Amino acid sequence: MRLDRFLTRHRNDSCKEVARQLADGRVMIDGAVESCGIRRINRFTKVELDGEILQEKQAVYLMLHKPAGYLSATMDSQHPTVMELIDHPLRDELHLAGRLDRASTGLVLLTNDGRWSKLITEPQEEISKVYQVTTRDRILPETVMRFAEGIYFAYEDLTTRPALLEIVAEREASITLHEGRYHQVKRMFHAVGNQVLSLHRESIGPLLLNDTLPLGKFRSLSAEEISFFYHEDSNRTVRASK
Ligand code: URA
Repeated sequence: MRLDRFLTRHRNDSCKEVARQLADGRVMIDGAVESCGIRRINRFTKVELDGEILQEKQAVYLMLHKPAGYLSATMDSQHPTVMELIDHPLRDELHLAGRLDRASTGLVLLTNDGRWSKLITEPQEEISKVYQVTTRDRILPETVMRFAEGIYFAYEDLTTRPALLEIVAEREASITLHEGRYHQVKRMFHAVGNQVLSLHRESIGPLLLNDTLPLGKFRSLSAEEISFFYHEDSNRTVRASK
């Protein structure tokens, strides 16, 4: 929202009074004087008036290397959730930017910024997700074409978007999806008569889970990593770094 609107709403000051506060250099945004009322702020922008903090909220962005056995949920009465692995003061505010099955391992993102998580999870954003899969049976070469054409899911009455399947061994492959449907990888292999035995997510868009983050550990994302998803070419870095 606009800074001047925030100020009028926050303290019920008149537009005239807010204009005076801005003109007199009494308003600070993230530690710097701001005189422009049309400047846009969000719920994580620090706003001060006459030295009094009107709004200060920390945005949190984390990546977790999820082990098997943890549910991608904030609460569950039966199973441990990924939240139990997060030792952070703002843990209770966090939500997941995309789920991973309980038995699956790999990259999970958590945040308290709903706008950011939408950029990752909304299907139209087409953020790529790369999984390493091992299967029960040999992966047939024709499966590459089947996945590229899309697999029909009767339950949702839809065909999956083109997925890139790269066979790396008889029963091992890498699969890149641009959407995140319920149990999608497992259901796609099931549709071609095979079965997924293990599933590991190695990347989401440009964020790569590499060897530096041990299983069960999390870390904060850098400012650069957070901003990747605001770029139109937010899938580019993964391809470049593979
Ligand atoms: N596809 C699956 O089958 N499971 C996941 O956790 C993610 C994608």
